[in-house]
Amino acid sequence: MGIATAGLSPIEQTAFLTEYARALDSQWPRSILGDALAFDVVSKVDYDFVGLGVPTSVVCQTALRAKMLDDRVRAFIADHPDAVVVDLGAGLDSGFYRVDPPSSVDWYSVDLPGIIAVRDAALPARAHSHSVPVSVADVHWPDTIPADRPAMLIADGLFAFLPETQIAAIFTRITDHFVSGEMAFNDYGRIGWFSRVAVKLAPQRMFKAVGSQWGYAGFKDACYPLTWNPKMTLVEETSLTHQPEVDLFPSWIRVATKMAGKSKSGARKARILRYAF
Ligand SMILES: C[S@@+](CC[C@H](N)C(=O)[O-])C[C@H]1O[C@@H](n2cnc3c(N)ncnc32)[C@H](O)[C@@H]1O
Repeated sequence: MGIATAGLSPIEQTAFLTEYARALDSQWPRSILGDALAFDVVSKVDYDFVGLGVPTSVVCQTALRAKMLDDRVRAFIADHPDAVVVDLGAGLDSGFYRVDPPSSVDWYSVDLPGIIAVRDAALPARAHSHSVPVSVADVHWPDTIPADRPAMLIADGLFAFLPETQIAAIFTRITDHFVSGEMAFNDYGRIGWFSRVAVKLAPQRMFKAVGSQWGYAGFKDACYPLTWNPKMTLVEETSLTHQPEVDLFPSWIRVATKMAGKSKSGARKARILRYAF
């Protein structure tokens, strides 16, 4: 019997998509992220991962954006060896083990209680890796995280599932709680009605699960989050489509990704945004 998942809510189950995508990538001969632990986690959890129908293009994007966020966390830790890293909507992600920070760093994985229980059962315990079972809709979500150390906050695959008011409240709460730091997350630009309908109509179970949970249509202008919190400054907008790792994508996905990156709107559909405060 694997780790039980029957009681998880649909929103918590979205963590299985991205974890399975990283597990599949780890088995490729030219892996993008090389997260062998993700494969280990998937083999321990009692869930129909294959039935999700995760497409190859999603495997590529998920692996690459995790790598890009890891690189930004590594750079922040290099400058701030006493940092706290806060992964919002962490799911089963093994970013802590990939980055392997020094013991001067504390890493907090924030997510809903059901998926945090699966996380704690599936991933090896480490002294400086802490689980925080709380909803980010709860204004008290950062209360157990040290406020007086430089903070690197990341969110991979979270914000599309939240309403804008909640995302804005998270941005405000970050600067209310932490003295200084950065916030980096993946983003899809503005998601038009056509894309939302296409996701809902797609045959794979993965897209049905995501489509029914979609909370926010997003924004084009990377400065838009500054309207939620003017104490933040935009420090980076980088498209996945322009990364050298795209050369590792299988042929037609590589071509389509590079083509998408030639237009501003295409490049925006898969980007990492980073803000300082
Ligand atoms: C697509 S998954 C991404 C998980 C992880 N970041 C990854 O890359 O594998 C979205 C995650 O957001 C979490 N989530 C959604 N709403 C949340 C909330 N209100 N508070 C905390 N976590 C939430 C889900 O439980 C899920 O783990």
